[in-house]
Amino acid sequence: MHTRFPLRHRRCDGLAQARYKTRRTVGWRMDNGAIFSCGAFVNASTHLSELSAAQTAWRRHVAFFTSKGLSGESSTSLEDCLMLYLLIRHFDRRSVFEIGTNVGTTAVIMNEAVKQNGGMCTTCDPIDYGAIPPDSGIRFINAPADAALAHIKEDGPAIDFAFLDWVPDWKTLRLANDLFDKDAILAVHDYGLDPKGEAVVDLLNLHYRPRGRWFFPEAAPIALAGGARVNICTAFFVPNQLLNGRHENSFERLRRRLSALLHPRHLASHLKRAAVQKIRRM
Ligand SMILES: C[S@@+](CC[C@H](N)C(=O)[O-])C[C@H]1O[C@@H](n2cnc3c(N)ncnc32)[C@H](O)[C@@H]1O
Repeated sequence: MHTRFPLRHRRCDGLAQARYKTRRTVGWRMDNGAIFSCGAFVNASTHLSELSAAQTAWRRHVAFFTSKGLSGESSTSLEDCLMLYLLIRHFDRRSVFEIGTNVGTTAVIMNEAVKQNGGMCTTCDPIDYGAIPPDSGIRFINAPADAALAHIKEDGPAIDFAFLDWVPDWKTLRLANDLFDKDAILAVHDYGLDPKGEAVVDLLNLHYRPRGRWFFPEAAPIALAGGARVNICTAFFVPNQLLNGRHENSFERLRRRLSALLHPRHLASHLKRAAVQKIRRM
C-alpha cells in the first residue's frame, strides 16, 4: 500500500484495485490510481468552516443532557460527530437514519448537517432517554431498528445516509436493502475500538446488497488547522456509483430533493420549525 495513505482498507468487492477517474467526483479530488483515504476526504472537505458551529452544537447538547442528569457514557465523541457532519454535508444527504439514539448526541449533530441540506434526521432506540431537544425537528422512533424501519417503510422517504451505532439484526438488514437508496452512505461507529464496529462492517459486507468501498479511521484523529480533530472510530461505506464518478443527473437530484422535501412528515416538521423560528424572532 502507498505509504502516504496508511489507512487500513478492506475490499467489499474488487474495488480496491480500481483506478479512480481524474475528473471531479462528488466534490472529491481523486488522483489517478490513488488509494483514497478518510484523511484525504476530511482535508479536502469544503465544509471545514462549518465545524466550529458543529462543535458548539455538540457542547450545547452535552450541557443539555447533563442538565437532565444523564451521564452520556455510551455517547459519541466530538471527533466522530464531526466526521458524520462532514459526510452528510459533502454528499448532500437529505434523509438520515440512525440506529441507536441513546442521549442523542449523534442525532443532534447529524441533524445540524442534514438541516443545512434541507433534509431531516430520524433516529430510533428501544429506550427513550428523553434527551432529544424538543424543538430540534429530529424524528425519534422509540423502537428497535427493525420496527422503526418498518414504520418508515409505511410513511417515510428513502434513506440516503445511515449511521449504525448498534448491531443490526437480520430483519433490519433486510429492510435496509429495501429502504436505503442505492446511493446511501453508511457509517459505522466503534470501528477498531470495540468488536461491535467490526461486527457491523462484517454483517454489512455479508448482507447489504449494494457494492462499494469502506473507508476506515486512521491511527489517530485527523488534526485540522484551528485545532479541530476529526474521526476516532467511524468507518464509512461509499457505494460504487459515487466512487466511480457517476454523477447524479439533474433530474435524479431534483427527484431526490423533492421526494425528501415534499414528504408529508418532512413538510410538517419543516413548517413547524419555520413557525417556531418566526415566533422566536418576534
Ligand atoms: C452506543 S449507544 C448510541 C449512542 C448515540 N449514537 C449517541 O451518540 O448518543 C447504542 C444505543 O443503541 C440502542 N439499541 C439497542 N438495541 C437497539 C436496536 N435493536 N435498535 C436500535 N437501537 C438499539 C441502545 O439502547 C443504546 O442506547
